[in-house]
Amino acid sequence: MRLLSVASEVYPLVKTGGLADVAGALPAALAQEGVVTTTLVPGYPAVLAAIEGERLHAYPDLAGGPATLVRAKAANLDLIVLDAPHLFERPGNPYLGFDGEDWPDNAHRFGAFARAAADLGSGRVDGLVFDVLQLHDWQAGLAAAYLHYDPPARRPGVVATIHNLAFQGVFPAWLLGPLGLPAEAFALDGIEYYGQISFLKAALIFADRITTVSPTYATEIMSEAGGMGLHGLLAGRGEVVSGILNGIDTEVWNPATDPALAVTFDAADLDRRAANKAALQRVFGLDEDPGAFLIGSVGRLTEQKGMDLLPPLMPELIAGGAQFAMLGSGEAGLEAAFADLAAAHPGAVGVRIGYDEALAHAIEGGVDAFVMPSRFEPCGLTQMYALRYGAVPIVARVGGLADTVIDASPYALAQGVATGFHFAPGSDASLRAALARAMAMFAAEPKAWARLQRNGMATDVSWASAARQYAALFAAITPPPFSA
Ligand code: ADP
Ligand code: GLC
Repeated sequence: MRLLSVASEVYPLVKTGGLADVAGALPAALAQEGVVTTTLVPGYPAVLAAIEGERLHAYPDLAGGPATLVRAKAANLDLIVLDAPHLFERPGNPYLGFDGEDWPDNAHRFGAFARAAADLGSGRVDGLVFDVLQLHDWQAGLAAAYLHYDPPARRPGVVATIHNLAFQGVFPAWLLGPLGLPAEAFALDGIEYYGQISFLKAALIFADRITTVSPTYATEIMSEAGGMGLHGLLAGRGEVVSGILNGIDTEVWNPATDPALAVTFDAADLDRRAANKAALQRVFGLDEDPGAFLIGSVGRLTEQKGMDLLPPLMPELIAGGAQFAMLGSGEAGLEAAFADLAAAHPGAVGVRIGYDEALAHAIEGGVDAFVMPSRFEPCGLTQMYALRYGAVPIVARVGGLADTVIDASPYALAQGVATGFHFAPGSDASLRAALARAMAMFAAEPKAWARLQRNGMATDVSWASAARQYAALFAAITPPPFSA
């Protein structure tokens, strides 16, 4: 089984969020299931700097300039890189310019990326055959439309994988022609979307299967509340929609070997975590109090992540003896709110605005509890890192958070299976109650707390189960080989 994974970011070469982690880790897990993965990725400067490759195919003109498909290996990944300097050779973020706005030619950039994916999937690039194309998010989505309107002799199976329905790749309708799509594509059963065109819709309409990254999110996106305008389409295709829960890279995220930790540890010697907590308190300028309830968070500061719920609740928690360490960046208003919080509570609140892989590891390995107040969360990876690192997750009961953390309800505690705390998404009262519950257990019931930690660390967060499910799904849509 030969898979072309089409991903606009891939860890460790280029990453803005969880999609990169998934695209980077899944190939090794799929290999165990007999799926050989090649990953198509745009030739951003960071990617080109990491590879030395062999030219596979040259486009004299792809969306306004020459482009090359380059085959390379990097970080244990088999890559095909779309080297198109006029589209991708820009510093900074893959999607945004320095003003924080989308690059104005994103339709051309990811249209070209999708065109390359479709050409590879069609067997138009010499010597390469793929059985299945996995299109990650809107950036890859138009490939499904190119394969539909210009079908090759042997069309590969096509899977659309939704990592975040909030991003739909919506562009003005006049781009249809420049993107090389026929006028008939501007239709309800094509890529038309409220008078515009949507790259994500292309994938959702024309893919053989639609997957998303947790079972609960798969259900949510078929409802009006969670469907972000696409619930009708998704529900209509409900029989091909499924949720496959992400895993995490348990080698990159392994507390027993992690070089970013002050002290490595595992479930058998949890006491060693105390040294990481002390180190983290120093890094964040917090009072070095081993008994303080240290809450941490890492992530994008956006509406999705619900981080705005935290600052108003913090003073009360701090008065009760809690500390807070946060790493993130995003909306200016939220960055300012956290900076103000830190300034108002020296020694109790530490905030780092920015992006820092090593510090993210140190937070997971040092905090007592990890909070994730998302309003919606397709899967979420950081709560799984928390589980693996003995940080007890406090999460909104939504999407993948609901699927990965078991609430410390009286029943789950009695059964000895709880791993964290749930609260109602978007509700400050419910978040306050969950934080209070967690803090009370931490202070008064150290054995029960340690049980949560050990249960979390014993949770299977590997990619093994997801890889089996993807392999079965790919097998079901693999076209027959060319017959003689
Ligand atoms: P999303 O993809 O919605 O942002 P996920 O939880 O799936 O959320 O993945 C986020 C990934 O990005 C994780 O690997 C997390 O550790 C990382 N991350 C997010 N913000 C930062 C940051 N400021 N510094 C370091 N890593 C970060
Ligand atoms: C998206 C989602 C996140 C998910 C990640 C990887 O960025 O916001 O919930 O974990 O993709 O699938």
